[in-house]
Amino acid sequence: MSENKEFAELHAEGKVYKLPIIRGSEDEKAIDIGKLRDESGFITLDSGYKNTGATKSAITFLDGEEGILRYRGYPIEQLAEHSTFLEVAFLLIYGYLPKKEELSKFTDEIRTHTMVNEDMRKIFDGFPVNAHPMGVLSALVTSLSAFYPKAVGMDIKDREYLDLTIIRIIAKLPTIATWSYKNSQGHPLNYPKNSLDYCSNFLHMMFSLPVENYEVNPVVAKALDKLLILHADHEQNCSASTVRLVGSSHAGLYSSIAAGIDALWGPLHGGANQEVIEMLQEIHAEGGNVKSFVEKAKDKNSGFRLMGFGHRVYKNFDPRAKIIKKAADDVLKSLNVKDPLLDIAMELEHAALNDQYFVDRKLYPNVDFYSGIIYKALGIPINMFTVMFALGRLPGWIAQWLEMRQNGEPIGRPRQVYVGEKVRDYVPVEKR
Ligand code: CMC
Repeated sequence: MSENKEFAELHAEGKVYKLPIIRGSEDEKAIDIGKLRDESGFITLDSGYKNTGATKSAITFLDGEEGILRYRGYPIEQLAEHSTFLEVAFLLIYGYLPKKEELSKFTDEIRTHTMVNEDMRKIFDGFPVNAHPMGVLSALVTSLSAFYPKAVGMDIKDREYLDLTIIRIIAKLPTIATWSYKNSQGHPLNYPKNSLDYCSNFLHMMFSLPVENYEVNPVVAKALDKLLILHADHEQNCSASTVRLVGSSHAGLYSSIAAGIDALWGPLHGGANQEVIEMLQEIHAEGGNVKSFVEKAKDKNSGFRLMGFGHRVYKNFDPRAKIIKKAADDVLKSLNVKDPLLDIAMELEHAALNDQYFVDRKLYPNVDFYSGIIYKALGIPINMFTVMFALGRLPGWIAQWLEMRQNGEPIGRPRQVYVGEKVRDYVPVEKR
């Protein structure tokens, strides 16, 4: 990366300001405005940070125009095909592909930290049955800080404790996530089985019941592992930026991740996967009239958007959606599931991609469009879809938090352009 050898010029109020140009390793260009206000009094304004780089990051490269996504330089297609979720987690967090012994150690440690404190289990009794698992997940992740107080304001140079904190959250999230679901069903909670791999253990905790035996289907475990890889990081999206921003006050890892979970829950972000299936079910229930939903999505007064369509950065195609579409097809075939929602999804995709409104705005299916169909085929209930996204995104959030802290980034504190009232005198209530 080159810095400060080239400059952009800003002409304003009769003066010229020289602004350093920064280039990334993939020749991404940025203008450094860090000192602009000190020199000129100007700030920049960019609602939704549509064109603002918040950091320099070495974790994930994404080219929205070309549909490229790489974790630490490795193409998502290769990782989805050949790697495992825990290997990808190691790669994202530590920056390199682990040697065999390193991966075994990492995996074994995760395997042996899956239990959560029994006192934490009691917290579940306080939630109403039917509570959405995302709300419960976020609350329980925050409460990890109460059970591991040393993780609050942690010294990140204490490598051993840092690694333990990372292991703990990766290991415990599936336990907490499945318990959130069990709570929403009013079912007894299952303890982890440490003989099982990460995804099989998740499935066991989700689906085992005291009244009948549950055998993990390896096809289901494998498909789940692939989905988690595809969700593992996505550079400076809403939840990752939230994690970095919260963490920039030196809040601990657990609180920062809990904030990321809350950000993810929104229907414009990870919450879209639940909304997609609900939308497809609605189309199905109304007789499969795909065209009328496309028309509704184009009507700005309807307040309706085609969920699972469009992306802030992908303007050509979402490479994750491509892989997931194929995986959905494979999984449904291998599990012998016939789901009319897949046909509706493909029809909807075809209708939208051939409609000028969607073509003009470069709106393509995103990662959430087909993921719900696989989750559904794997038996994952709809209210758990966004939890699955959170489970997958966890390593990315950890990596983003760690990078921000290791780079010694300052506390995040944007500026604003004030458009409110000018100064005025207070009027006592009886005189208003
Ligand atoms: N259906 C209909 N119109 C849309 C859609 C959609 N799904 N998405 C964007 N548009 C229109 C929007 O109305 C606007 O039109 P106009 O220029 O005429 O005002 C134009 O396209 C640009 O949209 P925008 O809202 O300015 O774009 P954005 O970058 O702020 O929003 C988005 C990106 C993902 C929030 C948006 O496309 C959306 O709401 N999609 C549906 C929700 C969804 O699927 N979210 C999951 C995103 S991928 C998973 C993740 O990483 O979070």
